[in-house]
Amino acid sequence: MEIRVKATTIETEPCDALILGVPQNTAQLDLSRNKRLKKICAELLATKDFKGKLNETALLYTSNLPAQRVLLVGLGETEKYDLEHLRQAVGTAAKTLLRLGQRRVACAVETFLSEKFTIAEAAQSATEGMILATYKYTAFKKSQPEDTRQVEKVVYLIENATFQKQVKEGMRWGKIVAEAVNFARDLQNHPANWVTPTKLAEFAQETAKEVGLKCQILNKAEMEKLKMGALLGVARGSQEPPKFIILEHNAGKQNLETIVLIGKGVTFDSGGISIKPSERMEEMKFDMSGGAVVMGAIKAIAQLKMPLHVVGLIPAVENLPSGASMKPGDILRASSGMTIEIINTDAEGRVILADALTYARRYKPKAVIDLATLTGACVVALGPHASGLFGSDSELLDAIKRAAEQTGERVWPFPLWDDYQEDIKSDYADIKNSAGRAGGAITAAAFLSRFAEGYAWAHLDIAGTAWTDKEKAYITKGGTGWGVRLLLQFLSDRLNKTN
Ligand code: BES
Ligand code: MN
Ligand code: ZN
Repeated sequence: MEIRVKATTIETEPCDALILGVPQNTAQLDLSRNKRLKKICAELLATKDFKGKLNETALLYTSNLPAQRVLLVGLGETEKYDLEHLRQAVGTAAKTLLRLGQRRVACAVETFLSEKFTIAEAAQSATEGMILATYKYTAFKKSQPEDTRQVEKVVYLIENATFQKQVKEGMRWGKIVAEAVNFARDLQNHPANWVTPTKLAEFAQETAKEVGLKCQILNKAEMEKLKMGALLGVARGSQEPPKFIILEHNAGKQNLETIVLIGKGVTFDSGGISIKPSERMEEMKFDMSGGAVVMGAIKAIAQLKMPLHVVGLIPAVENLPSGASMKPGDILRASSGMTIEIINTDAEGRVILADALTYARRYKPKAVIDLATLTGACVVALGPHASGLFGSDSELLDAIKRAAEQTGERVWPFPLWDDYQEDIKSDYADIKNSAGRAGGAITAAAFLSRFAEGYAWAHLDIAGTAWTDKEKAYITKGGTGWGVRLLLQFLSDRLNKTN
């Protein structure tokens, strides 16, 4: 999708379709000097067939505009209207036009403005909406005409030429961000026979080359040297060798703050010996979503040249049952020296993250954030509408909450009281990897906290948000890339605060 900005009126731009935003319950539309368009809009609103509800659309044919059709999209109630609603409305419009096979689209950005945000923010969110909503995963489909359809060209029309620079800057940022989300979505959607730990490591290397990141892949022997017994224990059941992926932006630069991002990279989670039921087990190809999101985010961090030292760590393994698998009752020794009793081999995410959290310490980071499709319990608690937020550093948690509000990726905090530590005490080892069903999302986070020592740490349980089977405005079926935008917003806020 190519997006341009043009200072001109909507009466002058030839295109297949022109997108206009319409607030709810407006009696009249004052969008245009075009009398005919005004009259048609007034008539439409009078019929009440279109009320401007959020994500409601109406297609009009005006015959005297260079645009062949006009797509009105509702912005909903003005008091509730914000960047998230803008993103949804533009996304819905773009998706509607994609379905209709329209290739050349114009969007009157000024019809989406509000006093609540800047024009640059509006342009960024509009761009995110456009690119995210029109995403399709077609890697393994014989190409059908509907599958190859694309919105090819988008022009942002602005009447006020002084906005041009800000719109361009917002658009540039939005494009990098949204394409990083789609990159993560591709990685998530790929099947597990294609994205093995080895393949994930290759993707990391390719990406690093493309955008100028440092990339290091630790193989099994190197992990053995580092005594990563936890990660290696989980990897044992699979023929696919584990990989520990390290991506680094601004490696070796002095005087930059270090932030470590960790993503769970279980390329397939069968549960291992504690095998999962087969119903919906195919969804466990998404168990590397945290890793995909970290890879997407760090790719954008490099493209945006953020003046921060950012390290991405992705422990990548496959969790399978076999004669070599770890078994319930086995005890593993993690690289921190702690011993872990495996109660349930399906609680593997926390076990591989233990070694990644320990590895993070060597960077003396200002903050560490991990993202993991960690527990079904988190899905039970929050459903698909928010990720669980855990951690002990209230400043870090607050910054994450603020970023989440801006990007529309909801987070909700859980407690980490000491009582939960009691639940993961083991009779045979220092700690056990499962405390059963009660408080399952929290006991998993409590387990992680034992390895996240010596730095400010936050954990996002993205089990409910990482993928979806329901389309929603700009969120497409399959991998959602949830968290890429949140991480980028968090880092960008951090830069703006210190500058
Ligand atoms: N990857 C799963 C968690 C998961 C389940 C994510 C469903 C998304 C949807 C994780 O490895 C797991 O299996 N967790 C177990 C832990 C339990 C055995 C303590 C769970 O949540 O059931
Ligand atoms: Mn599991
Ligand atoms: Zn898992």
